[in-house]
Amino acid sequence: SLAGLDLRAEIDRLRKERNAVILAHYYQKPELQDIADFVGDSLDLSRKAAATDAEVIAFCGVRFMAETAKILSPDKTVVLPDMDAGCSLEDSCPPDQFAAFRAQHPNAIALTYINCSAAVKALSDVIVTSSSAEKILSQIPASQPIIFGPDRNLGGYLARKTGRDLILWPGVCIVHEAFSETELLKLRAQYPDAPIAAHPECPAVILDHADFVGSTSGILAYAKEMPGDTLIVATEPHIIHQMEKAFPDKTFIGAPGADGNCNCNICPYMALNTMEKLYVALRDLEPRIEIEEGLRLKAKKSLDAMLAMAS
Ligand code: 13P
Ligand code: SF4
Repeated sequence: SLAGLDLRAEIDRLRKERNAVILAHYYQKPELQDIADFVGDSLDLSRKAAATDAEVIAFCGVRFMAETAKILSPDKTVVLPDMDAGCSLEDSCPPDQFAAFRAQHPNAIALTYINCSAAVKALSDVIVTSSSAEKILSQIPASQPIIFGPDRNLGGYLARKTGRDLILWPGVCIVHEAFSETELLKLRAQYPDAPIAAHPECPAVILDHADFVGSTSGILAYAKEMPGDTLIVATEPHIIHQMEKAFPDKTFIGAPGADGNCNCNICPYMALNTMEKLYVALRDLEPRIEIEEGLRLKAKKSLDAMLAMAS
């Protein structure tokens, strides 16, 4: 039994023993963010995973993120505390259906959100994250037809913002879909001076009310520069932990779902990772990410294209 173990101390001991680096996404539980060597958005985490000289990467995030780490750093052991930590966007885009979608648009290139399986990355030309999508899109000639998947909200946002005509795959993030416009407007009436920051995975009806739209890192940067001292945050609420640490004198309020609070916007996949499971993953070096080499090399092409075009 793990009862009675000082998990923080044990994780620290194992991290040194294993020469491991702990990477965490902003949507992880506060204790996991706090014990990580590095916390970041999807692009930051990919770059860290590609550059680390640790032997083991313990990835506190979801499976597609840990897979990305393995694709970019195949010689490292990559562990994910809970292998069931998936993503609704990944689930919405089975590789065989994505291949058929591509085949329907033979002249289009596939610009694909990083929130997808390794198999879908292998079928894509360039991967993007929310923080790099606009920059990457601007490097693709205007006459080039583009299919964009799996997130139709991010794709729709990019299309509106850039005027590009993207052919969208119909996937959504269940977390960002759960924000309620009615409840958001009620909250804004209560805090009329508070700006709203939103992640581009939110539907257009939410983004239309946002003063700032960006990735998790982008929203954190906005929390520093924003006017006033209160911010309404329309993304997964665990990011508020970093905001409260960085700006203890400001107030951060999670945007509500239909029930009027932000608990329904907790990502159920991200929430599967715990301190106990991180400890076991470092102790046993399991569950481990393995990717077949042919698939890895194909997926790496589109990820390398992202890293080159985002830099
Ligand atoms: P970013 O951290 O890149 O903004 O991604 C958000 C997200 O939903 C990850 O699953
Ligand atoms: Fe996937 Fe949404 Fe959870 Fe991110 S927040 S991992 S996009 S389900």
